[in-house]
Amino acid sequence: MPESFFILSKENLEMAKDEVIAIAKTYDRFAKSKSFSNLIIIQSKINWEKIADRATFVKTSGQILRKMSGLFLGEDNFEVLKNAKTFACRIINLSSKKFEIEELENSMGDMVSKLSSAKVDLENPDIIIYLIFTNQENFFGFSRPTTPSKRPKKVKKHPHELDWKLARVMINLIGLKEGETVCDPFCGTGTTLLEAESMGIKAIGVDFDKKMYKISKENLEVNGYNSKMIRADFSEFTKMQDKFDGIVTDLPYGIASKTSQDPKELIKKFVSMLPRRKKIAIMCKKGFEKELKMNPSKTYDIFRHKTLTRTILIK
Ligand SMILES: C[S@@+](CC[C@H](N)C(=O)[O-])C[C@H]1O[C@@H](n2cnc3c(N)ncnc32)[C@H](O)[C@@H]1O
Repeated sequence: MPESFFILSKENLEMAKDEVIAIAKTYDRFAKSKSFSNLIIIQSKINWEKIADRATFVKTSGQILRKMSGLFLGEDNFEVLKNAKTFACRIINLSSKKFEIEELENSMGDMVSKLSSAKVDLENPDIIIYLIFTNQENFFGFSRPTTPSKRPKKVKKHPHELDWKLARVMINLIGLKEGETVCDPFCGTGTTLLEAESMGIKAIGVDFDKKMYKISKENLEVNGYNSKMIRADFSEFTKMQDKFDGIVTDLPYGIASKTSQDPKELIKKFVSMLPRRKKIAIMCKKGFEKELKMNPSKTYDIFRHKTLTRTILIK
């Protein structure tokens, strides 16, 4: 079974790892994982490009060719360079040992040049060869340049809007796939809808505020997206439960955004209406979750500033 590696940004590391695992399991339920610091290794039948393209916090990724016991690499390890004209070598040291990275990269480059006809190109290589060191295991892998999917445009913004990375990670954590539909019953400027559509997932947005409804519509239109927008109270979602597979939403805080009632009461009412068998990701102000009888399978705290930490609840 192929193995891929993902180096993650360290901010929200646990969530970043869970996201990569959730994406792998969405497409291959037998996918396995192990992690070392901010490196996660996934064993699954789906390729690393697919996971990396969907994931929010992946900085570097590629395929593992083999584990290494020492620094020695033989000719057969460089089969992967067969059709490459140019290459670069990168060392990623996650171990507690000190390495002269530049020196090691140069000597590895010399070794590869002797064993293959490819030339060094640090700017735009056809292939990048990686040596990854951790305290437990070392890995030899490679990646090829990929073109990341186009980011959706947002022409209209609002201070209460959700960070697109959090919308994306929530969609991924609940394992929605292309062709499925997500519903955001408090969609505001449409961040969830834009992220979903950019990943080939259909979306339905509800917001009771006329201004927000208009903003969402404009944001969708400029990208040529077809998400359905409904101007109504959030409870509208209960009438269309057969039309979506999961809910991803960021609840009103009663600070910058309008609310139809006291945010705590509104949230309790919302949670009591949640469908039992759907995938759900909800973000709320930390502390609110204690009053909800939601019984999440996982929670993540997102620190925003001194007086605002938010919590993501996954069910
Ligand atoms: C925190 S904001 C959501 C922000 C959104 N995720 C974004 O990225 O723009 C909460 C939204 O809930 C909407 N809202 C408040 N009470 C509502 C209700 N009873 N029914 C539907 N929408 C409501 C507000 O208009 C606001 O747009």
